[in-house]
Amino acid sequence: MSAEPEHVVTGAFGFTGRFITRRLLSMGVRVKTLTRTPARTNPFGDRLTVAAYNFENPGALARSLEGAAVLYNTYWVRFPHGRTTFEAAIANTRTLLRACEEAGVPRIVHVSVTNAATDSPLPYYRGKGLVEEAIKRSSLTYAILRPPLIFGPGDILVNNIAWFLRRFPIFTVMGDGHYRLQCLFAEDFAETAIACASRQDRGVVDVVGPETFSFDEFVRLIADTIGSRARIVHLSSHTVRGLLGLVGRVIRDVVLTPDEIAGLMSGLLVTQSPPLGRTRFRDWLGGVAGTLGRTYASELARHYR
Ligand SMILES: NC(=O)c1ccc[n+]([C@@H]2O[C@H](COP(=O)([O-])OP(=O)(O)OC[C@H]3O[C@@H](n4cnc5c(N)ncnc54)[C@H](OP(=O)(O)O)[C@@H]3O)[C@@H](O)[C@H]2O)c1
Repeated sequence: MSAEPEHVVTGAFGFTGRFITRRLLSMGVRVKTLTRTPARTNPFGDRLTVAAYNFENPGALARSLEGAAVLYNTYWVRFPHGRTTFEAAIANTRTLLRACEEAGVPRIVHVSVTNAATDSPLPYYRGKGLVEEAIKRSSLTYAILRPPLIFGPGDILVNNIAWFLRRFPIFTVMGDGHYRLQCLFAEDFAETAIACASRQDRGVVDVVGPETFSFDEFVRLIADTIGSRARIVHLSSHTVRGLLGLVGRVIRDVVLTPDEIAGLMSGLLVTQSPPLGRTRFRDWLGGVAGTLGRTYASELARHYR
């Protein structure tokens, strides 16, 4: 058995966790992942140890964390669905934190979101704020990382903007489209997360990329890059929500949640912090212009079917 301590990543088969895992493995680090679906096809083969989340069995969860030097936590739910709720996700994260304490895991690198706040009127942002508070109260040292929209191969939101732009003659933007957003390349996020793992302090850090766009500019940039001729029209957020609800019923997915719309329109995906990510969205986009949005990426298919 290797003397090198293991790093545990929640969600190595998901989006953000996959980039962290791949990078750690390329550095020769031993990695274990926690997931709901340990039996699924493992793209990392036997280089990755796989264990179940075991939120219902905290003792087993703690045993699966024993000996870990750090936990990279990506666990969260994008929206409530069926028996999945934000409250359950918060409770599960608290269970995970207690398991880390019991197992003697010294450090957590936690993925939060820009402008998470316990007093947010939006349940997604409030839930993220409550989890941040639970981490601060734990005995672990921590890096709480707050990214805005994360882009990269396998992402859902940017891919699906491109899908709509390819598929329909009209693309509807909520309101005036002047509200701003920042974004971050998934590889840059993974690099920052791993750099934070070896520190011993406690801190909350915005991790944003080098560009700030208005939503209009963001959509137009994607449209121009992929060669979409869709007309971009502005409608009230109420109308766009209604339209997205209709489309969602047809394609059997939740395209954009009320919290995502409200968060975007009220500037929650923007910070005043200096950029830690180097990769420019427009440069990345140029490299994937031929493939982005060719197929729809379904959140419900990924997590519920
Ligand atoms: N993607 C973005 O643009 C973005 C932006 C800002 C912040 N974040 C934050 O970054 C973190 C990771 O996001 P991601 O997009 O990379 O997520 P993800 O890979 O889809 O999921 C991350 C983890 O959460 C679990 N999970 C996801 N949905 C679930 C559900 N409905 N029920 C139970 N478990 C579920 C997954 O379980 P399995 O391992 O079983 O799949 C996985 O372990 C989250 O905390 C998110 O809030 C993401």
